[in-house]
Amino acid sequence: MPEVVVENVHKSFGALEVLKGVSLSVGRGEVFALIGRSGSGKSTLLRCMNGLEKINSGRIEIAGHALGGDAKALRKLRTDVGIVFQSYNLFPHLTVGENIMLAPRIVKDVAKPKAREVAREVLQLVGLSEKFDSYPDQLSGGQQQRVAIARSLAMRPKVMLFDEVTSALDPELTEEVLMVMEQLARDGMTMILVTHEMGFARRVATQTIFMHKGKIWERGPSATLFADPQTPELRQFVKSDVK
Ligand SMILES: Nc1ncnc2c1ncn2[C@@H]1O[C@H](COP(=O)(O)OP(=O)(O)O)[C@@H](O)[C@H]1O
Ligand SMILES: [Mg+2]
Repeated sequence: MPEVVVENVHKSFGALEVLKGVSLSVGRGEVFALIGRSGSGKSTLLRCMNGLEKINSGRIEIAGHALGGDAKALRKLRTDVGIVFQSYNLFPHLTVGENIMLAPRIVKDVAKPKAREVAREVLQLVGLSEKFDSYPDQLSGGQQQRVAIARSLAMRPKVMLFDEVTSALDPELTEEVLMVMEQLARDGMTMILVTHEMGFARRVATQTIFMHKGKIWERGPSATLFADPQTPELRQFVKSDVK
């Protein structure tokens, strides 16, 4: 069974229809890239996938849970689906370690020594073992974003969603964050990422989805999709690399 199923999802904000019947299915360990112009509905689709937005119709199922259940089902879903945004929003008054331990302690009621052990483990995964006791403002933007990824991983998610996580970073900091994501992909994490990094999508994503005007306009294996776009819209997008 696929880890993520999205079936004919419609989502409107008032009179504005943002998702117009989106369907996709992501197998375990697959990496999907979502590309498309600003306003095409990429972030909304991700937010629907972890229950941050309520869909108007259609079906979403992740890691075996259907969305749209009660509050308890939603909490369970949120522990299975990690989401990382462009802004990392670490708590400035907590150390890196404390930031990472917070959600497992509060949401999953994990005992402190265990939470600390998990925090050390996920920090190592993102290459920041030595920053456990540092405060966020002592870190670069790229390091803070890696902490945000580690914080999400501490919940032991089955699926990770990334929404333009490198868009606010300088090129050299972008690279270190992309490397962490690439390692996660290699380790078999199921991931869906919205990105402007076309080279990264092409190299790391098994499938790429081009969204346009609230629809999946074109999709396919990343190599094929970028090399041989079938629609004028994707051809234009790839050529101009428009954001
Ligand atoms: N909470 C919201 N309320 C009203 N409109 C929204 C909201 N979130 C997104 N939109 C609108 O939905 C459309 C798609 O936005 P979004 O999903 O953020 O696109 P993308 O991530 O592809 O840039 C845009 O027109 C945006 O203004
Ligand atoms: Mg967006």
